[in-house]
Amino acid sequence: MEGLRLQSFVAFYITTPIYYVNDYPHIGHAYTTVVADVLRRYRQLFGEETLFLTGVDEHGQKVQAAAEKRGLPPQQHCDEMSQNFRDIWKELGVEPDRFIRTTDAFHKQGVQAALQQLWDAGEIYASEYEGWYAQADEIFYTEKDLVGGKAPTGAEVVRITEKNYFFRMSKYQERLIRHIQDNPEFIEPDFRRNEVLGFLKQPLNDLCISRPKSRLSWGIEIPFDRDYVTYVWFDALLNYATAVGYAQAEKAGEFEKFWNGNEACVYHLLGKDILTTHAVYWPTMLMALGLQLPRTLFAHGWWLTADNEKMSKSKGTVVRPLDVKNLVGVEPFRYFLLRDIRLGSDAQFSVPLVLTRVNSELANNLGNLLSRSLSLVGKYFDGKVPQPGDDPRTLDLARMAAATGSRVRDAVLSWEPQQALGHIIDLMTAANQYLADRAPWKQAKEDLPAAGETLYAALETLRIAGILLSPVMPQKAAELLKRVGWEKAVAYEDTLNWGGLEPGSPVVSGDPLFPRIELPEAQA
Ligand code: MSP
Repeated sequence: MEGLRLQSFVAFYITTPIYYVNDYPHIGHAYTTVVADVLRRYRQLFGEETLFLTGVDEHGQKVQAAAEKRGLPPQQHCDEMSQNFRDIWKELGVEPDRFIRTTDAFHKQGVQAALQQLWDAGEIYASEYEGWYAQADEIFYTEKDLVGGKAPTGAEVVRITEKNYFFRMSKYQERLIRHIQDNPEFIEPDFRRNEVLGFLKQPLNDLCISRPKSRLSWGIEIPFDRDYVTYVWFDALLNYATAVGYAQAEKAGEFEKFWNGNEACVYHLLGKDILTTHAVYWPTMLMALGLQLPRTLFAHGWWLTADNEKMSKSKGTVVRPLDVKNLVGVEPFRYFLLRDIRLGSDAQFSVPLVLTRVNSELANNLGNLLSRSLSLVGKYFDGKVPQPGDDPRTLDLARMAAATGSRVRDAVLSWEPQQALGHIIDLMTAANQYLADRAPWKQAKEDLPAAGETLYAALETLRIAGILLSPVMPQKAAELLKRVGWEKAVAYEDTLNWGGLEPGSPVVSGDPLFPRIELPEAQA
């Protein structure tokens, strides 16, 4: 209980990266965003105050080029594309508290305030720059970064000489290394922390934070030189702070609460491919601005194709989230995204894998337990929750069920949602086994109270599972709880004690909650 109390003082602020609006949302975007939504719902269930931010990255070369390709002014292009992101989150049951666009006036103003502060403090200087620029990455590389004449990412580079503005990032290298070493929770998982520390063994360059308008006009103007716009990453990273009131006098209290105060607990969830920008650029920017650093940067892995390859647009292997949603339903899809991959590792994505997971754990395991129990309660107990009992075998199941809540909580707090769901499924497996062993369909004919005890226990495990599944599948969980006769609002505390269901409460039968899904002909 101590842990629970401590946690509830924390203002848990979780963010996703802001996505480029050069293209439609794909499974990678959906993944980060659904995970963030689920983690925040769990923290809410555990009694914490939470804030969940997502949004879109609208400036820079990529977006400007995409708008040009469509023959649209960039702002109109962004208005349309950012709406696609909003719409898809709705379809995936994602409910962010805030949705930021980097073209929002308050954000632009915050970026300019940060630039001005750093310029006034001498943390930004002008210099002639010569380097290799990769348009696809929007990153400058030095000679020694190049691999076979190309960027380390494989992107084409061109030689460029121009005046630009630089942030004194190198000055913060030692302090950053110390921070990472002293705060093991700053970069997760562990092996990613080591990667960043490895990267920091080389001397850090200063960061070029401007682009001449002659080359790129779609960006936030540099307040002290109107011929330049801000480098898109410098602009984008600041979204996490501007979204909670950075540099907005009227929101000082909010900024203190969610970012800069003692209770603030900032979690950035992001993909492994954008860890360097988050783990090096962002904290050094914050140090220079005199602001607190986020508590944790968690770098998740990637969904790969069934052949273990990166999804690729040109090969046509990019998965569109709505296709999967339309096949299996939104909440089973969310379940899959959390369950079939270890947060931090890569995993394969394929429609058969989705069906296998959803059919075996939701349709067969959980779904069958529910439908068998409800039909027997209907048949022998007039559709009402029967009386509990205390057979030793029942008490074993009761103990396991009452321990599942804290197991789930521990797994979520240690960033293992996959395991959290595993604990719930283990409970369902145990309950199915219990049901098979006690065979209430036989008990009912010989010893009705014993059958009642068995069915009470089955419904009670389902009740606990329903509450614990609610962050992943809010609507299915609500329906499940209604069916087993639980009318109370969902609360974590109610998972910790066995015996919550009131005997006599009506249960509700209906179509299977998780119908089995077959592979469409074309994909079989
Ligand atoms: N705009 C930047 C982020 C700025 S944050 C201050 C950006 N945008 S993005 O549109 O490219 O989206 C990147 C996010 O999608 C990353 O978190 C990335 O890891 C994720 N994914 C893209 N493809 C992915 C998979 N195939 N699997 C999982 N996530 C992947 O970078």
